Amino acid sequence: MKANKTRFYCTACGNELAKWAGKCPACGAWNTIEEVPAAPTVAGGGRAATVAGGVPRSQPKRLRELDAGAELRFSTGLGEFDRVLGGGAVRGSLVLVGGSPGIGKSTLLLQMCARLPKGETVLYITGEESQRQLKLRAQRLQVETDELFVLAETQLDQALDAIGSLSPSVVILDSIQTLYRGDMTAAPGSVSQVKECTMAIMQLAKLQGFTAFIVGHVNKDGAIAGPKVLEHMVDCVLYFEGERSMSYRLLRGVKNRFGSTNEIGVFEMTDRGLREVENPSEMLLSGRPENVSGTCVTCVMEGTRPLLAEIQALATPTGFAAGRRNANGLDYNRALLLLAVLEKWGGMALGSCDVYINVIGGLDLDEPAADLAAVLAIASSFRDRPIGPKVAAVGEVGLAGEVRSVAALNQRLGEIARLGFSQCVIPAHARDELRPPKGLQLIPVRSIREAVEALL
Ligand code: TYD
Ligand code: MG
Repeated sequence: MKANKTRFYCTACGNELAKWAGKCPACGAWNTIEEVPAAPTVAGGGRAATVAGGVPRSQPKRLRELDAGAELRFSTGLGEFDRVLGGGAVRGSLVLVGGSPGIGKSTLLLQMCARLPKGETVLYITGEESQRQLKLRAQRLQVETDELFVLAETQLDQALDAIGSLSPSVVILDSIQTLYRGDMTAAPGSVSQVKECTMAIMQLAKLQGFTAFIVGHVNKDGAIAGPKVLEHMVDCVLYFEGERSMSYRLLRGVKNRFGSTNEIGVFEMTDRGLREVENPSEMLLSGRPENVSGTCVTCVMEGTRPLLAEIQALATPTGFAAGRRNANGLDYNRALLLLAVLEKWGGMALGSCDVYINVIGGLDLDEPAADLAAVLAIASSFRDRPIGPKVAAVGEVGLAGEVRSVAALNQRLGEIARLGFSQCVIPAHARDELRPPKGLQLIPVRSIREAVEALL
């Protein structure tokens, strides 16, 4: 048995030291080192965790013996929000909601408060608005609940005290950039403040078991001290995106310890707050021009959800020596590649054209499955011949002008058929067995030349 020696631990980060120090060398926190007499070593593989300096010390256990328990989830009351979280929020977890200012983060979380299941006490800590302002917003959003407490506070200690005395089951921090620790010299919103405050909230959350929703603003240039520096600390990272000028908003999961990522939730900003959009494909296609050249519809997978998107292209003779290129919603380099493929294998002299590509609805298409539709939209504009309004296209385009198979083709075809399309161009070599939906005629193509010939 080892001799019982006194040990020193940092209560902030759990770092073990040989001797006492004023400042923890690991996390840099002051006055957090505590002296703890070492617990006697338990003989015979004891399982009891010994607590040293407030940091539970756990013992290695066989994976097989671990108790998974039920992941305790609760619904946020907003189906689209639940979906991105992986089927509801997990108790004791930290969820970071990032997004540019004014996109609707506060609105989303305030609306969630009204929809939470009965018995969930919420503490809304706001550092950006006064209690009165929040009340006015709540009135406008018709948020009426007895379980919501509002604290206008920017001092971390005060906020922690309030959480400690109220013991809420949900804490909303709006925003992490306004919260600060008084004993640190760094300005609120700086990297160290943001990290320290999140760490403190996280520790309390694990201790008390509340779920914390932390709002983080992403600033335009590089997200300095924004949610990026916190991504590794929290359990879920969600980004709220959208064009401010357009009414719909996408809630995108980029990290989730309790579910799949890349799920999206779709909302629409109305004068009464956010409204869930259950049929986003329909919304994204609304107002689509018919019988004009330069537009083609495709289907992309956002997480497990197929979404229809319209790609528009405009190819016009250039006034410059070399044509200008612009891509919005499609990766610029991918667009250049597709133009080169179309020029070489489609035989279109696009070098003398300015080409603009735009994905309607502010969607970012980062999936190769959208290639074929982009190529067809450009070709349609170049030849000035419209593609039929009930035609969609799905497929990846290779450098040799071939059309390649994509994943989840059946699911995509299902969504395309559901929205009333009658024809779909697909890769001739489909990866899995095709189950074409009723009423949808498939047009298998091997190359972009075949696709252009079939449609234009
Ligand atoms: P907000 O939730 O304050 O954004 P964030 O917290 O992300 O900074 O949203 C503010 C925007 O939303 C503002 O431009 C006005 C708009 N809005 C509506 O259109 N309808 C509403 O009912 C509300 C509350 C806000
Ligand atoms: Mg806000």
